[in-house]
Amino acid sequence: MKTLITIEEMTSARNQWHRDRQKIALVPTMGALHEGHLSLISEAKKYADKVLVSIFVNPAQFGANEDFSKYPRTVEDDLKALEGCEVDAVFLPNAADIYPDGFQTYLSNTSISRELCGKQRPGHFDGVLTVVIKLFLLTGAHTACFGKKDYQQLKVIERMVQDLSMNIQIVGCELIRDDDGVALSSRNRYLSDDERKSACSLNAGLKAAKQSFDDGNRDAAELRAVALKVIEASPGVEIEYLEVRDQRRL
Ligand code: PAF
Repeated sequence: MKTLITIEEMTSARNQWHRDRQKIALVPTMGALHEGHLSLISEAKKYADKVLVSIFVNPAQFGANEDFSKYPRTVEDDLKALEGCEVDAVFLPNAADIYPDGFQTYLSNTSISRELCGKQRPGHFDGVLTVVIKLFLLTGAHTACFGKKDYQQLKVIERMVQDLSMNIQIVGCELIRDDDGVALSSRNRYLSDDERKSACSLNAGLKAAKQSFDDGNRDAAELRAVALKVIEASPGVEIEYLEVRDQRRL
């Protein structure tokens, strides 16, 4: 597995792969890798000759009061995990190379990024898009894989690719849950035992709504109420939002 740190190392590997007519699949991550990331890598292998994983904790997508400095950084373990799943290369850029002095060009989505998670995290998705478009340009990837766990992020990225007529295939991959039903997520390491118990109610609520849907209920407000009832019954849960949306465009 190649470890690419500088922009020059990344672009020279990319150029060589392009010359060799190799298809490149990118799995962008912020590290602290878990089974969810590894499943993205397995999926990526189906689409390309070369699988490249980027690890970059992107400062531009964290708000002033968010967890940028605390975000788990486990590069040594991550590299071991990547060696184990036969990735071709890992791109580990420095912040000063991604956002060099004087950096002043950001990408902005003006609609779906402002709702749902975006309401509580103004600027978050613009930070995501800015780094993602840079990663696409630097890596020359033909395909990029993103988890459906961050469903709004996936939709915002798909919209960027469509709006900017970009020649890259976006693959949305299923989310992976732990045995207790909580989605695998680097940030779930922060949960205490009690918080973890409360977190189980999210999946339980979604499952209850799905059961009601499968039983024939097609009323969005009622489906929402079914999920809400289960989630609210769990102590320690404060709901930010719970909405039923169109799957394609939110
Ligand atoms: O989903 C993530 O880990 C990040 O938002 C991403 C896509 C790697 C951009 O920093």
